[in-house]
Amino acid sequence: MNTSSAAKARSRAIKPKAGFCKQALVANRKTYEKLYRQSLEKPEKFWGDASREITWFKPWKKLLSWKPPFAEWFVGGKLNVSFNCLDRHVASPRRHKAALIWEGEPGERVTLTYAQLHREVCKFANVLKSQGIKSGDRVAIYMPMIPEAVIAMLACARIGAPHTVIFGGFSAESVKDRINDCGAKIVVTADGGYRRGQVVRLKESVDAALPGTSTVTRVIVVRRAGLDMSLGDRDVWYHEAMAAASDQCEAASLDSEHPLFILYTSGSTGKPKGILHTTAGYFLGALLSTKYVFDLKDEDLYWCTADIGWVTGHTYVVYGVLGLGGTSLIYEGAPNHPEPDRFWKIVEEHKVNIFYTAPTAIRAFMKWGDDWVKKHDLSSLRLLGSVGEPINPEAWMWYYRTVGQERCPVVDTWWQTETGGHMVTTLPGAVPMKPGSAGLPFFGVDLAVVDESGAEVPPDTGGRLVIRRPWPSMLRSIYGDATRYRKQYWSDVKGCYFTGDGARRDRDGYFWITGRIDDVLNVAGHRLGTAEVESALVSHPAVAEAAVVGKADEIKGQAVFAFVTVKQGITPTTELNEELRRHVGKEIGAIAKPDVIRFAEVLPKTRSGKIMRRLLREIAAGGEVKGDVTTLEDFNALASLRQQEE
Ligand code: WT7
Repeated sequence: MNTSSAAKARSRAIKPKAGFCKQALVANRKTYEKLYRQSLEKPEKFWGDASREITWFKPWKKLLSWKPPFAEWFVGGKLNVSFNCLDRHVASPRRHKAALIWEGEPGERVTLTYAQLHREVCKFANVLKSQGIKSGDRVAIYMPMIPEAVIAMLACARIGAPHTVIFGGFSAESVKDRINDCGAKIVVTADGGYRRGQVVRLKESVDAALPGTSTVTRVIVVRRAGLDMSLGDRDVWYHEAMAAASDQCEAASLDSEHPLFILYTSGSTGKPKGILHTTAGYFLGALLSTKYVFDLKDEDLYWCTADIGWVTGHTYVVYGVLGLGGTSLIYEGAPNHPEPDRFWKIVEEHKVNIFYTAPTAIRAFMKWGDDWVKKHDLSSLRLLGSVGEPINPEAWMWYYRTVGQERCPVVDTWWQTETGGHMVTTLPGAVPMKPGSAGLPFFGVDLAVVDESGAEVPPDTGGRLVIRRPWPSMLRSIYGDATRYRKQYWSDVKGCYFTGDGARRDRDGYFWITGRIDDVLNVAGHRLGTAEVESALVSHPAVAEAAVVGKADEIKGQAVFAFVTVKQGITPTTELNEELRRHVGKEIGAIAKPDVIRFAEVLPKTRSGKIMRRLLREIAAGGEVKGDVTTLEDFNALASLRQQEE
């Protein structure tokens, strides 16, 4: 955004409604500033107070041990996240309060109270133990959005077995790679899950993945879709194992830095990285942000629409809300099944108070038309959140007006898998909202926009977004690859964590995120490395070379645009084009399927052999999406441009 449009957006700052402010935890900017300053200047005091949100088995001794770029927080403390999400609520008047309210896509509903969830988690923790899982062993969870997915996560946390949740939309290949990278011993899955009226056959993908792995000793299968299937020697039914399990399982006393989970995310190189989060710092970040950013109160029904396969599903479907004793609604299926008002129907029927979703969903709803929204009574809503990519001001205004009826504050939340929890947001009720800006830094977050030399740039100037000091919920490493961790995040700008995003900060201190500045795409709020898609394409026998770039997309934010050269003797055809799309779906998952594949005779390269991505992005931007997909792009005519690019 240039200076004048930034100024225009600033003039559109929207004050939160007085009714909301009256009960807000942080009442105004002055209070926010005071707390924020304290969080940076007196971290011992700030985090000391905040850490009382956690029930500790043993108090921590030292706030931070920082041997750049390796941090340890709350050193010497002992705790258990599952205990904090369950036992302490079971021992309180929340005992019979709903912890999870689940709705399946076909319409079934299940409510689990804290006491019931606690019991299921204890039982499943015993199942894991009886299958040989010990503290530190990795467990892969490849599940639809059903209560058993949450039960499995909390059971892992209970016994100190780090989980790695694999998004149910990922392919068998992706499952295999993730299992191999972290050496998972057990896979928890389901026969299938519902998505847009279809059954996604998860167990089949696990079966296809396992021959390429060597560490898995057991597959535990939840019967969700009632598919007719016989289990192999390595497999057990979840319900059979659970029937035999005791419901007594003490929560392990774990070190503050005990690994809680590994979550894979795309980077700018081919292989997804296993982001490692540990116990105390991550959990405190989840608790504190859920409390302040979502203003979560005991009587609220809270719904985050993210899948647990993403970090949003970890922090804001499971750990933050349950940690605070809140009620988390989970929905299994698609937003437009059977009709485009499914989300609003859920909001109305369950009387959802807090609703958190992604800009790509908001833009899809806009496109489907206001009538689907207006059909429903949404008066229960009191706060709306957005996450995943920059929200364009039009979508923001639509969300604010049509869904929130100008009553609910909209909190945009900028963060990443690596940050564990919210880093930038407009605390609801505390500060004006600026449609399109992610807002102000959260407590403890020392954020800056810098130039290539690492110097902070003046207001309203674009640059790289960095974090200048460690924060409690930060990633601790890339699983098994500390060198890559250092190189990827801590070597770009001296002494700083580099986010990979571009941003500018305005004169009010608000951050405007402009998007990734590395070779990572953001497709419908999902991170996708261009290199990952390229290597999937070249793994097809017909492909010689591939280059993938993003193309602006009205709904998804970015679409995947691929340029491909074929091997000698291969003729590019419409069928091959379709086959390559399917192949990428098989290699990575449906979200990575290129929207467009263009065949080219050669890929435009600089003399030093680097693919001219800027040029390809320009061609993609002007490219007709539905043109003849077999036409060869003629890059020869572009030779003169090569010079400029060098
Ligand atoms: C990348 C992180 C964090 C949960 C979801 C995605 C982009 C995310 C915003 C936002 C502008 C955003 C950034 C970031 N992003 N939220 N509110 N405004 N950009 O997690 O897959 O780790 O992706 O998503 O580019 O770096 P992720």
